[in-house]
Amino acid sequence: MTGTLDWENIILGFRLTTKDFLETVLGSLSESIIVTDLDGKIVYYNEGSEGLFGYRPEEILVRSIIELGVRKPNVLAEMRKGRTFRGEVLLRRKSGERFPAHIICIPLRDRSGAPMAMVGAARDLTEEKEVNRLREFNENIITSLNDGIQIIDKDGIITFANKRFEEMVGRGGGELIGRHYQRFMDRNVLESVGGSMETLHKGADKKTFEATYITKDKREVPVLISSSRLYRNGNYDGMINAVTDLTEIRVLKEELYQSEKLTLLGTLAGEIAHEVNNPLSGLILAVQMLIDDAKEGHIERKELLIELKDIENDAMRCKRFIEKILGFSKMVPEAKGLVNINDTVEEALALIQRQAKLDNVSVVKAFSSRPLYVLGNANQLQQVIINVVNNSRDALFPEGGTVTIKTSAVAAKGKRWVCLEIGDTGHGIPEGITGRIFDSFFTTKAKGTGLGLSVGKKIIEDHGGTITAQNLQNHGASFVVTLPRKRWKMSK
Ligand SMILES: Nc1ncnc2c1ncn2[C@@H]1O[C@H](COP(=O)(O)OP(=O)(O)OP(=O)(O)O)[C@@H](O)[C@H]1O
Ligand SMILES: [Mg+2]
Repeated sequence: MTGTLDWENIILGFRLTTKDFLETVLGSLSESIIVTDLDGKIVYYNEGSEGLFGYRPEEILVRSIIELGVRKPNVLAEMRKGRTFRGEVLLRRKSGERFPAHIICIPLRDRSGAPMAMVGAARDLTEEKEVNRLREFNENIITSLNDGIQIIDKDGIITFANKRFEEMVGRGGGELIGRHYQRFMDRNVLESVGGSMETLHKGADKKTFEATYITKDKREVPVLISSSRLYRNGNYDGMINAVTDLTEIRVLKEELYQSEKLTLLGTLAGEIAHEVNNPLSGLILAVQMLIDDAKEGHIERKELLIELKDIENDAMRCKRFIEKILGFSKMVPEAKGLVNINDTVEEALALIQRQAKLDNVSVVKAFSSRPLYVLGNANQLQQVIINVVNNSRDALFPEGGTVTIKTSAVAAKGKRWVCLEIGDTGHGIPEGITGRIFDSFFTTKAKGTGLGLSVGKKIIEDHGGTITAQNLQNHGASFVVTLPRKRWKMSK
């Protein structure tokens, strides 16, 4: 038969087909196939239709196709005109539930070629629509996120980037897709970024790290990247990176830092008044006595010199104090220089000792006998010490107690460090909050701002050091600051 098999033969074959054959073929299809007359009366309904609509054949046969929801568009009218119909319609199951479906309806013709019946096939679109809806929903979320999203494959090649990421790095999707993820990063961060990604390659599930992008117009964009491993069918398949622009956060942090300084200045104002007022009063009194003596004309030269020396001393004391305050309040952090940490502690204590005395807090100093140099900014380091000692003072309130400040030289990790320990005999850090005390705005005090330690930590980290906290065995808390130690000679 193969040699003579052409369309005419096939059509003839179909004409001679038995009802049994047709029913077996149509019945075995998983799709829904229905045959109606031109009035819509159902004359054939296969098993696939049972699955789709829920009716048994005996329930639906000879009833109208309209029962299955086919009302609009008027498919039967199309059949009568001899036209094929294909399109999306809403159908109805036995349960009354409506569902979207794709249907194809073909007119069956009689011997004269006139339409006499309709064969319809329907496919349920519910799942497809749901998948599309979900995909659209996900895409919407990802495009409208305020964070940049980037997906990279196992070789580090970018396979997806959302709008926000494109904006952040100032490049269109076309320039990003297919490129290596490090391509637009600042060279200086590549080593540390590479290290972080390596830990992910080796099996860590998540990693957060900082990096810097360089935009097309050469702007630096500091970012925080949260990177997580992606899996496909259970196998490691690349990385998804959520990228947060830190530019604004950095500005805010700087502003906070400045405002924290202003707050401290406020509390210092009382002490300034006191520190300056005392020598000033003495100075004025001495000058007045001198004037009186001079008027009466009986002052000796030796006595005059002693009085003038005292006046000079008082004036110098005021001047030095004012200078210190001015330095402290400068808006732009001064450059770093070689600083003896023992001096810095002394200077910081000078600024807060009056209040400490009033609160019954005695300060015990256990300084290293030799100077301990660090490369730093004395004003900033003073601020850290003041913040920590003020916290101790708060923890000792109202009974008072002791604050011990110890400085020492230590060696660790193959390097030399200066170690500064500030311990108190207060109530200690409440259990469960140790991990949060360095967070900005974390406070347990009614009038606290929660900035003291976070500003302190920023300063110490800017100096290449660390600050940690722990509770002491008996009671009280201890803060340990370490800073890279410098030799005096190195600065010269
Ligand atoms: N020496 C300490 N003993 C016990 N708890 C402490 C000590 N130092 C800090 N803390 C805890 O850490 C929290 C955070 O301290 P931080 O200095 O950052 O803010 P604050 O002191 O609450 O407010 P601010 O310093 O702005 O006035 C404090 O509220 C306190 O609960
Ligand atoms: Mg504080």
